[in-house]
Amino acid sequence: MRKKVTVVGGGFVGSTTAQRILDRELADVVLTDILEGVPAGKALDMIESGPIQRTDSRAAGITTATGDYRETANSDIVVITAGFPRKPGMSRDDLLKANYDVVKAVVEQIAKFSPNAILIMVTNPLDAMAQAAYKVSGFSKNRVLGMAGVLDSSRMSTFVAAELGVSVENVHSFVLGGHGDDMVPLPRYSTVAGIPLPDLLPKDKIDAIVTRTRKGGAEIVNLLKTGSAYYAPSAAAVEMVEAILKDKKKVLPCAVYLEGEYGINGLFVGVPAKLGARGVEQIIEIKLSTEENEALQKSAASVRELVNVLGL
Ligand code: 2OP
Repeated sequence: MRKKVTVVGGGFVGSTTAQRILDRELADVVLTDILEGVPAGKALDMIESGPIQRTDSRAAGITTATGDYRETANSDIVVITAGFPRKPGMSRDDLLKANYDVVKAVVEQIAKFSPNAILIMVTNPLDAMAQAAYKVSGFSKNRVLGMAGVLDSSRMSTFVAAELGVSVENVHSFVLGGHGDDMVPLPRYSTVAGIPLPDLLPKDKIDAIVTRTRKGGAEIVNLLKTGSAYYAPSAAAVEMVEAILKDKKKVLPCAVYLEGEYGINGLFVGVPAKLGARGVEQIIEIKLSTEENEALQKSAASVRELVNVLGL
């Protein structure tokens, strides 16, 4: 039997995520939205591309305004993208309360109909929303995670590859911490064909890449004006989906629930995690310098502030 993935939210991030899953024939997809007709129309449009894309994965679109999540039942993975997007001048954190209400309502339904699913949170502010999903669902911590580190690392790799004029396939970047302005790009652990970045680029160039990575989301928002990024965010979410569905044991930076790792307790923060069929199968602790650790703790403190506002 084919695997089933529900994507909650039929906006650009959600529909692009669904499309990528279908194009790679990873699973059948249920796309949900509160809008009438839109998820059904997008799903039909996607499956009509199947004969050309050579995929037999199916898609269905359902309207959940009436609270009917029955068609999402028994999903293996649920990717949650529903919420209000960032507008220019708005920080991810401005979205906090509005999106908490959305995520809470969605997760209650998802937990009811797919009690064994793995939840991947994409809605911003990402880390706090993952914490909300964890608390509301009552799922074990290995089955709730947030997408952010893969996106931020992909942005950093894009900038490194452009700066050095090398293939993006040669670059592995590592970005830890919360998906906020104080995320922690780690040049020391970022490599080009195995060579650490500090051996290849002068400090000022690395600093510029770090700054651009931190502001990567805002750079797109400022260009688009009426929305935020979706091509790279959906690619990042689908890399996580694939690692889980194929039980790849792939190490990816993800927002996961820490209980003492990195000296952080009871909080979702981005760190390297091994993803497989059971979701988060291992949290990998890497050695940080004093400066790197301070940056990670600062980023975690920002997440903690949001979580405290929500009383989570
Ligand atoms: C991004 O980084 C908006 O958080 C989203 O593109």
